[in-house]
Amino acid sequence: MNIRKTRLSTLVIFIFCFLALSLNTYAGSEINVIPKPQKVSLGQGYFSFNPQTKLVYADNALKSVADAYQNVLKNEFSIQVTLQNNKVLSENVIDLQLDSKLGKEAYVLDVQTDKIVCKASGNAGLFYGLQTLAQLIQTENGKSTVPVVFIEDAPVYGWRGYMLDESRHFMGKDVVKQYLDIMARLKLNVFHWHLTDEQGWRIEIKRYPLLTQEGSVGSWSDANAPSAFYTQDEIKEIVEYAAQRHIMVVPEIDMPGHATAVGRSYPEISGGGEGRWKDFTFHPARETTYEFISNIFDEVVELFPAPYIHIGADEVHFGNQSWFTDPQIQKFIKNHNLKDEIGMEHYFVRRVCDIVNAKGRKMIGWDEIVNTGVSPDKAIIMWWRHDKPELLTQALNDGFDIILTPRIPCYFDFVQDDNHKIGRRWAGDFNELETVYNFSGNISKLISSHPKQVLGMQANVWTERIKDKKRLDFMTYPRLMAIAENAWTDNKAANLNYNEFENRVKIFLKYLDQFNINYFNPFNKNSTPEPWGPDRQDVLADG
Ligand code: ACM
Repeated sequence: MNIRKTRLSTLVIFIFCFLALSLNTYAGSEINVIPKPQKVSLGQGYFSFNPQTKLVYADNALKSVADAYQNVLKNEFSIQVTLQNNKVLSENVIDLQLDSKLGKEAYVLDVQTDKIVCKASGNAGLFYGLQTLAQLIQTENGKSTVPVVFIEDAPVYGWRGYMLDESRHFMGKDVVKQYLDIMARLKLNVFHWHLTDEQGWRIEIKRYPLLTQEGSVGSWSDANAPSAFYTQDEIKEIVEYAAQRHIMVVPEIDMPGHATAVGRSYPEISGGGEGRWKDFTFHPARETTYEFISNIFDEVVELFPAPYIHIGADEVHFGNQSWFTDPQIQKFIKNHNLKDEIGMEHYFVRRVCDIVNAKGRKMIGWDEIVNTGVSPDKAIIMWWRHDKPELLTQALNDGFDIILTPRIPCYFDFVQDDNHKIGRRWAGDFNELETVYNFSGNISKLISSHPKQVLGMQANVWTERIKDKKRLDFMTYPRLMAIAENAWTDNKAANLNYNEFENRVKIFLKYLDQFNINYFNPFNKNSTPEPWGPDRQDVLADG
């Protein structure tokens, strides 16, 4: 009887241990980090910071990462650590090490009870390992700890982007810097800066001062809004701020359409347009236009070290009406056997691609450039028209590298809740958090035959109906977290699921609270009423 009882209790203990172990493994897949790391194994216990904790870096090349992280620990967590450039210490340290076997952005983060080791092949990987660590630190009653965990991580995509349109509404340097901070925490690494469009030219070009005297006046909601633009010094400051966070800044100078601000400033460059789209285009048949563009790019390449210039090239047909009657354009079409106005547009794109390439940069364009005849060696395509998947397929078949940014689900000027009134929809569709989250899974079939040509993905925020930071934050968050996870985490390998993601979003929202960021809260919708941005009431929402 006794023996039977003992056996029974052994069995109960065994089952209990088994359950505890499996629960622990389950918990291990649920550390609160966005984007979710690829491989996580959670252990027992905690590392605790104390006033003697040191940040040790094995190599002088890592000093800048260590310096920056010392500030993060101090400013965000009130944790003081001293820096030490040697490897003698092995306890009570965060130890930054180089490991040349790891990929450029990969890292290993090994948190033990007595030390934390972060390994990478260089600064980028270490930076990301430390971003993960920052999300793992828990502070309670002045005591900061990190759970014991072993993480091996690397991104699926090298291009993890966020685009901000500052032509329609200008946000300014401080807003941009905060966005760069949050992007870095989410391991996003490309800031695509839409700096020119109809409503305003926002980048100082010294050779053409009228661009920022006249072209910078006005916004989408107020044609007389005071001039707003970035000086070249401010641009350098932002590019440097981004670089410290391993973010590349890619400027977009939109052409030949969406160029109204240019036409306002330098009418001799304008190719006209009509009605709402007056002066919408660059003049495509004048040599002076190409000289103008080349001179602008001379200054642009000095400001932006990125190997790319984005030239837009979208929606030219909105405002190219005058091309059909302009004698110079018509003669040019005939003399160059361009067939028609579309041929003219394609010629323009090819010419500008040559200019960009001659300055040592690769051109990026929206998916209108797919059929222009530019070579896939010289240009990259951003696929945005989700209703034209055939363009994506064609671009891939033609050998182009592409960046995925289809309106559905990557445009954050689309509403994110059915009850929201301000913002776009497409045939009733909109971009709620879950739709964005499921993006990689939904797109996988379309890109499966050319995975290497997909550089990555990006969220775009067009700011027609976004006048200020309050509304920009509301439209960006929490959806930016979903894009970040799509771009970083392999959705099959890491076994992603939306419900589990929601738990991590809730934690990240608390982090945003520290900065008074006005996110939409999908878990408590009434707590975050939809802020109204523009005073202009005529277009609340269109496709
Ligand atoms: C775009 O949304 N016009 C690229």
